[in-house]
Amino acid sequence: MRGLKNKTVLLTGGANGIGAAIARRLGEEGCTVGIFDLDATGAGKVAGAIEVAGGRASAHAVDISQYDAVKREVDAFEAACGPIAYLVNNAGWDRAANFLDTDPEFWNKIVAINLYGPLNVSHIVLKGMAARGFGRVVNVASDAGRVGSSGEAVYSACKGGMIAFSKTLARELVSRGVIVNTLCPGPTDTAILRSFLEGPDGAKIAEGLKRAIPMRRLGQPEDYPGLVAFLLSDDAAYMTGQTISVSGGLTMHG
Ligand SMILES: NC(=O)c1ccc[n+]([C@@H]2O[C@H](COP(=O)([O-])OP(=O)(O)OC[C@H]3O[C@@H](n4cnc5c(N)ncnc54)[C@H](O)[C@@H]3O)[C@@H](O)[C@H]2O)c1
Repeated sequence: MRGLKNKTVLLTGGANGIGAAIARRLGEEGCTVGIFDLDATGAGKVAGAIEVAGGRASAHAVDISQYDAVKREVDAFEAACGPIAYLVNNAGWDRAANFLDTDPEFWNKIVAINLYGPLNVSHIVLKGMAARGFGRVVNVASDAGRVGSSGEAVYSACKGGMIAFSKTLARELVSRGVIVNTLCPGPTDTAILRSFLEGPDGAKIAEGLKRAIPMRRLGQPEDYPGLVAFLLSDDAAYMTGQTISVSGGLTMHG
């Protein structure tokens, strides 16, 4: 895809699952990939694999819910690799529970990671992009934020919030050369979904999910990097504020 080579990208949650697949693809495309993740070991492994394959990557152990820590790490990354051109807000976390059975401590954790995390990273990174007049952002939300998802009330609220946040940023920053789009994965075979399927009914729930998906299978991490690469590339330069579901046809929006 056009324009990706030699761009510096900050990717959160790139140590595992969907983020690791995005990191590998952006490394193959010639980006310099900064993997910001709580999981230092996983981030180091993914960065190492990108380098072994001939790409450029670094691992940054950071909790995205901590504004000052993110700022320090962004400054270090930019000092080493140059100004950030692309941002992928991908890190996320959830555990299944009916809303009425949850408590504020649980909500705080979900909001801290899935909403405050991307707010923190965006606030720090987008200032530089706007000042330089160039930036591309992909926010990884979820179909849960478009249509809801039983057992994921607060997570869905965060993801719906991310969709609205992305549209507003797209409007505020378009005149300064920054474009912002949102990817909504459907149920995908990673640690988040596996934690939902741990109980005795797990296999039954997985089968129910597959039946509801027109393509009759769960998403795999490799289903997403192509769209992310496209949205960051010059091929998507006339798109901003869009929300795109990649979920085997599970949700279809006009
Ligand atoms: N798996 C699904 O079914 C599914 C569906 C829709 C959307 N998503 C979204 O896709 C994104 C990737 O999730 P995944 O399925 O690959 O999950 P995953 O658990 O495999 O990966 C999430 C990554 O985020 C990191 N992370 C979590 N909290 C963090 C924090 N506070 N600071 C820094 N890093 C943190 C984890 O260490 C992990 O590497 C998330 O935003 C998730 O909400 C996933």
